[in-house]
Amino acid sequence: MTTLKAVRGTRDLLPPETAFWNRIETTARAVFARYNFGEIRTPVFEDTSLFARSVGEETDIVSKEMYTWDDRARAQSEKTQSLTLRPENTAGVVRAYIEHKLGETGQLQKLYYIGPQFRRERPQKGRYRQFSQIGAEVIGPPSAGSESPLRDAEILEMLATLLDELGITGWKLEINSVGSSADRARYNEVLRTALVSVAPRMCEDCQRRAVSNPLRVLDCKVPEDQPIIDTLPKITDSLDEASKAHFAQVLAALDAAGVPYTRNHRLVRGLDYYTRTTFEFTHGGLGAQNALLGGGRYDGLSEAIGGPKAPGIGFAMGEDRLVLTLLALDTAKPQLADVYVAPLGENMNPAALTLARELRRNGLSVELGDGSFRLKKSFEAADKVARRIVILGEDELQSGILTVKDFSTGIQTKVPRAELAAHLAGK
Ligand code: HAM
Repeated sequence: MTTLKAVRGTRDLLPPETAFWNRIETTARAVFARYNFGEIRTPVFEDTSLFARSVGEETDIVSKEMYTWDDRARAQSEKTQSLTLRPENTAGVVRAYIEHKLGETGQLQKLYYIGPQFRRERPQKGRYRQFSQIGAEVIGPPSAGSESPLRDAEILEMLATLLDELGITGWKLEINSVGSSADRARYNEVLRTALVSVAPRMCEDCQRRAVSNPLRVLDCKVPEDQPIIDTLPKITDSLDEASKAHFAQVLAALDAAGVPYTRNHRLVRGLDYYTRTTFEFTHGGLGAQNALLGGGRYDGLSEAIGGPKAPGIGFAMGEDRLVLTLLALDTAKPQLADVYVAPLGENMNPAALTLARELRRNGLSVELGDGSFRLKKSFEAADKVARRIVILGEDELQSGILTVKDFSTGIQTKVPRAELAAHLAGK
């Protein structure tokens, strides 16, 4: 029989690496709480048209990478429906914002999410078919200040803080403005005209995009096309005064807060819903897939999927890539339990469980051995998984005095049982 394996592009996350995932999520939740964000959890699959209408039909995500199927009707009352595993979470959040009429509160909605996303991409380091994003969105009616450039700057300042607190050093923030939807429409036409003479020399995808959605030409990664793309008109030159002023205010706030950035006029991002500010944080340690996170403003998205006017801005971090970066930065240390409790003889097993229970209830992490192990085997096992070992035999049980051996120093200490938890917690 052939052995079954995890599907291409998916993987199992195992300890000790999962400790990184947990640490990242705990830090992210703590930072989000300080900025007064609340958690949203949307379904893993949605109606296919949600992504077609928000992310955009012409994007790589929608045209090539979605896991889509016809969900067959099971009863007369049901219709067969085209469903899709979410390739990203912004569309789902905005759908939920509309469905639950969150705009009627008149408040800004500050929502974060952590969860799996699915794209049928070519797997490589940092690129998977199931991956996890940690993201956040700020969305609300214009009267709540949702269009303010301060929202953009605050999100970027929060991200700089979060990456610093995660211990990710050496990140780079790239930022651009793609203007209002009118600016983008104007730029698309400028590009369309400019592409007429050069598109025949470009890749097949670009030839198609030159006609259907010229902006997407800027996403092209084909090396031979890059010199051609460099000669195309820049979006910066198509921005109207309001968009220019908005962008200038975002940058001024970042300057004041001391958040460093680089402007990149080609950063239009591979999703159609963006307006005005777009950004990515990259990291050199990641290789080809160097984007730690990406995001931007999407002032027309709610209306595009049938909702009220609700400008917004958000981002999503690739959690897999955060873990890779931390591992590369060598902050990875194996997680060791505080203590290994080794019962001496099988008849000591019940007493050892009781001692482990006492210590665990005091907040210590405890690895419990087995009384059938010889002392040498207990020491060898303990040395691999714990920082210290406590032997529990008849004598220790009777006297109430236990011996703790610390593996890093080699020192043995005698400790009364009543003081053991405090002693172990003290180091
Ligand atoms: P995105 O740029 O498509 O944006 O994805 C955001 C991040 O998710 C990327 O920078 C990367 O770190 C990670 N990522 C994307 N695809 C993969 C993959 N196949 N494997 C591993 N990691 C991946 C969005 O998804 C937008 N929804 C972000 C956003 C939120 N914009 C506004 N609000």
